[in-house]
This record gives sequence, structure tokens and C-alpha cells, in this order.
Amino acid sequence: MRLTLLFCLAVMLLAPADAAHAGSGNVAAGEKLARQWCAACHVVAEAQDRAATIGVPSFFDIAANPDMSEAKIATFLADPHPRMPDMGLSNLEIRDLATYIGSLRR
Ligand code: HEC
Repeated sequence: MRLTLLFCLAVMLLAPADAAHAGSGNVAAGEKLARQWCAACHVVAEAQDRAATIGVPSFFDIAANPDMSEAKIATFLADPHPRMPDMGLSNLEIRDLATYIGSLRR
């Protein structure tokens, strides 16, 4: 967990333009976390080698839902739904994930 945190900090320091562009969190760090922790159940990106679970909303569905703002996603992740495991995400990871999901909105 500490390594992930260091990675996120490094990414933010090395890519300030990217972080500024993406709102509050870091899109690249969020995508990495999503592929690592969320791809077992959710479709998290266009190119994904692992099959996601049927009946679980894809990150594109979540991004397209006008009720799911980045703030709402962050709140959800801080206190996950019973059907979803509590992954003990840090605030920084939650922010990056919410920003990444928000970046999938089109
Ligand atoms: C073990 C499977 C599993 C994993 C791993 C998982 N999820 Fe989920 N997630 C679910 C299920 C099932 C739901 C639907 C909950 C419901 O509505 O009953 C859900 C719902 C959500 C929602 C709410 C969607 C909505 O419209 O209400 C968000 C946001 C979300 N997941 C984000 C994530 C993120 C980010 C990760 C990785 C850190 C993740 N999930 C990892 C199973 C999972």
C-alpha cells in the first residue's frame, strides 16, 4: 500500500500537466489502480484482457450515469456497497480512481 502511495506521489510530481488537466486526481494512477483492483469484476478500460463479472456496471456505464459525479464515486468507494468488497483504499487512491472513472465520460 505504501509503495502504491509513493507511486502515485511520483506520478503526480512527474506529470503535473496531466494532473492539472484531470481535475483533482491523477488519471494515469487511477487507471493503474483500476486495472489492478477493479478489473476482476468491472470492465475498466477499452482494452482489458480479463473478463469482467456479468451484471456489474462497467466503468463506462458509471461514467455515463449523470447521478454518479466524481464526488459521488469517491463517497461510494470510501464506504463500498455490501456486494463489493472493502478494499481499504486510501484517500489518494480513491481520488485518483474517481478522476479516472470521470475521465471515461464522453
Ligand atoms: C468482487 C467484485 C468487485 C470488485 C473487485 C470491484 N467492484 Fe465495484 N461493484 C461491484 C458490484 C457487484 C457492484 C454493484 C453493486 C450494486 O449495485 O449492488 C459494484 C458497483 C460499483 C460502483 C457503483 C456503481 C453505481 O452506479 O452505483 C462503483 C463506483 C464501483 N463499483 C467502483 C469500483 C472500483 C473503483 C473498484 C476497484 C477499486 C471496484 N469497484 C471493484 C463489484 C466489484
